[in-house]
Amino acid sequence: MHTLIQISDTHLSPVQAFFYDNFRVVTAAINAARPDAVVNTGDMSVNGPKKEDDLEFARWCHNWIDAPVYTLPGNHDIGEEPGGESLKQMVTEDRLNAFYRHFSACRFHFDLGNWRLVGVNSQLFNTGLPHEDDQWAWLETALDHDGPVGIFQHKPMFARTPDEEPLPRISISPAVHDRLQGLYREGGVRFIGSGHIHLHRQVEHDNVAHIWCPSTAFHPSNLPEQFDGSLGYVEYSFDGDDFSAQLVTPEGLHHRSLADVKENGRYKFLKDVPTEAVEVDWR
Ligand SMILES: [Fe+2]
Ligand SMILES: [Fe+2]
Repeated sequence: MHTLIQISDTHLSPVQAFFYDNFRVVTAAINAARPDAVVNTGDMSVNGPKKEDDLEFARWCHNWIDAPVYTLPGNHDIGEEPGGESLKQMVTEDRLNAFYRHFSACRFHFDLGNWRLVGVNSQLFNTGLPHEDDQWAWLETALDHDGPVGIFQHKPMFARTPDEEPLPRISISPAVHDRLQGLYREGGVRFIGSGHIHLHRQVEHDNVAHIWCPSTAFHPSNLPEQFDGSLGYVEYSFDGDDFSAQLVTPEGLHHRSLADVKENGRYKFLKDVPTEAVEVDWR
């Protein structure tokens, strides 16, 4: 039996430290749970595309975790792909290079027992950057495994239902969706653990579990009816070829919505909200 904890959307920054306390609560809970591995599915920082310090600080915070940590970039770390949320902050080679200065990789694969776990950089899709071609070739190799496969990526495969057109602001780019889904199907993928939405959800489609990991930082301002806005993380157990995944909400988390943080319309973007700097000597 092996265990893995997926965290996501931690949104760390040394100068906009709204979510630093929550990250401390979560890392204490992770260390008490003693998982075999930890994955962060992106948006580790508040504004990595503009402030490299946010990336460096986010990396430093992950040093508290007493387990191997595997990280993926989100749109708040390296920018947006075409059709994304904030088109003034697109993914570029410079932004990828800034990410690589602090994180050793922007994709990964490793094995736990029978399972292969593959982390995919969803921010590269449909960008036309050389890194995108490189990742497609790498992905075929990463999925070549004699056993079950689980995927981690920042954006989910679909926003609400599998039958709707994917929206690049919310889910994987429509330009690559079918190609990616085909590779996952051929590769025997059993689950896709994603972030970005800041809500927890688990639905099964075509024998694949789609698992949305909540944020450790905040939930959306307007919660869809079926969601309660819980923060926390997802704990996976792998036993032979079987797996299970469950939401964990550690005690002590400060639950708040994005509207709370942006002072109910006073600031348009999270990156614009002034706040206290973190009171630790982090470098
Ligand atoms: Fe996020
Ligand atoms: Fe995101």
